[in-house]
Amino acid sequence: MLDRRCSGRYVLRMPHPLPLGVLVSGNGSNLQAIIDAITAGELDAEIRIVLCNVPTARGVERARKHGLHTVILSHSDFHTREAFDTRVVEILREGGVELVVLAGFNRLLSPVMMRAFPMRIMNIHPALLPAFPGLHAQRQAVDYGVRIAGATVHFVDENTDHGPIIIQAAVPTGPDDTEETLQERILIQEHIIYPEAIRLFAEGRLRVEGRRVVTTGQQAAADQALLSPAPR
Ligand code: GRF
Repeated sequence: MLDRRCSGRYVLRMPHPLPLGVLVSGNGSNLQAIIDAITAGELDAEIRIVLCNVPTARGVERARKHGLHTVILSHSDFHTREAFDTRVVEILREGGVELVVLAGFNRLLSPVMMRAFPMRIMNIHPALLPAFPGLHAQRQAVDYGVRIAGATVHFVDENTDHGPIIIQAAVPTGPDDTEETLQERILIQEHIIYPEAIRLFAEGRLRVEGRRVVTTGQQAAADQALLSPAPR
């Protein structure tokens, strides 16, 4: 939604609370973190729709428990990715959604979605992008032997796990880490940074300039560093 200020400059004006559409396929712990942040009054947003492509997903159970409008849409009922996405866009628009939040949604999006919500789709990925895009990011990190793993919230563009980066969390790895232990620790950070990224968006504090996301009012962290292993 564009609003004209008296200075003649155009600025993005977000409705309050910000209407969200959350797309899930699995456990839905990130959905839960967003619900919790809204309930705690830390995030001025409203989940208008939870859309799930897997009827048995735990995320559906979580959404229903909180009385959220939940739509099950099985991709196998559609012949093409574009046909599925066209229906998804219709549903999101009917719900007045302004920001689409992918929270463990296991489908690649077609340009149909990107055109409908340009720079209005966020995704969370369990790695410090551009390292380890794609599936099994935590396993890739363990196998590679990185000392610092992490999570990334980014805007979605036409390439997988690629769009402009909004916020990242670094998670040190240990010698005994397995895919599972690392996944658990990364998830803890995901639940912090996803609501935070949405909050920045809701407050109109994100501006995309090419690949960079400029955050207004951002605290400088220039003197901080995470060392892994930690020095004695
Ligand atoms: C998370 O690790 C997220 O980074 C990835 O899928 C997982 C979803 O977990 N995209 P949950 O369903 O939110 O618990």
